[in-house]
Amino acid sequence: MRPLIVAANWKMNTTPADAAALAGIIAAASDHPDVIRVICPPFLSLAAVRDAVAGTGIEVGAQNVHQELAGAYTGETSAPMLAGLATWVILGHSERRRDAGETDALVNRKLARALDSGLRPIVCVGELLADRDAGRAEEVVTGQVRACLAGIDPDALAAAGLVVAYEPVWAIGTGRNARGADAAAMADAIRRVVAEMATPSLAESLPVLYGGSVTAANAAEFFGEPAVDGARVGGASLKRDEMAGIVASASLTAAARLAASAG
Ligand code: PGA
Repeated sequence: MRPLIVAANWKMNTTPADAAALAGIIAAASDHPDVIRVICPPFLSLAAVRDAVAGTGIEVGAQNVHQELAGAYTGETSAPMLAGLATWVILGHSERRRDAGETDALVNRKLARALDSGLRPIVCVGELLADRDAGRAEEVVTGQVRACLAGIDPDALAAAGLVVAYEPVWAIGTGRNARGADAAAMADAIRRVVAEMATPSLAESLPVLYGGSVTAANAAEFFGEPAVDGARVGGASLKRDEMAGIVASASLTAAARLAASAG
């Protein structure tokens, strides 16, 4: 049975002091041990969030990592630098693809570095609106998965607990979410590619999250899809009540899945 995961991506928001306060408030308001909760604050707030959530069960993630281990890369952060600060990392977010020119080939290199450093990766994929309108959404997303995972040892992906986030670009920060059924269809397509490229067992155990304008009001539509294992939350993850509602909804699904698997 796959776990339910709610991963907050705070993007370029919060100072370290704000981040510590917000993380503490969210931890208290979303205490559901059957949901894996991850907060991904800006790099500068990682230490503050780590300290604020110590003992709460919340895990901490970075929003990006460099593809090299060290060297003359001004302003960058490498995977080994995250030791003791973060255990998760978001790779290939569409805002980095858009603003920093990240390609699937680059995400592939970053993924290798993350695995070397023992970070749990959330690899992001998602189509543009033009792709969806042209009926190419699945082709684009499965192509991204193939390129991001190319050449990576399936055993290393399994050991690291690879997570894929399906985040249609047109749904991110727009208030226009995908439909649950579309997210589920894409999750199935992603697992088909992973089964083919790696192993059927990795595909079966792979958590696929949906991201894009998830709120407490619409989260259940996604969690109600057996193929979808949680959410990546941006804007709403900066609000206590939204996070409390989203995690509570994930917890209901986790309980229902447990009951179903128990027969
Ligand atoms: P959003 O962002 O929830 O604000 O749409 C989602 C994301 O970028 O992960």
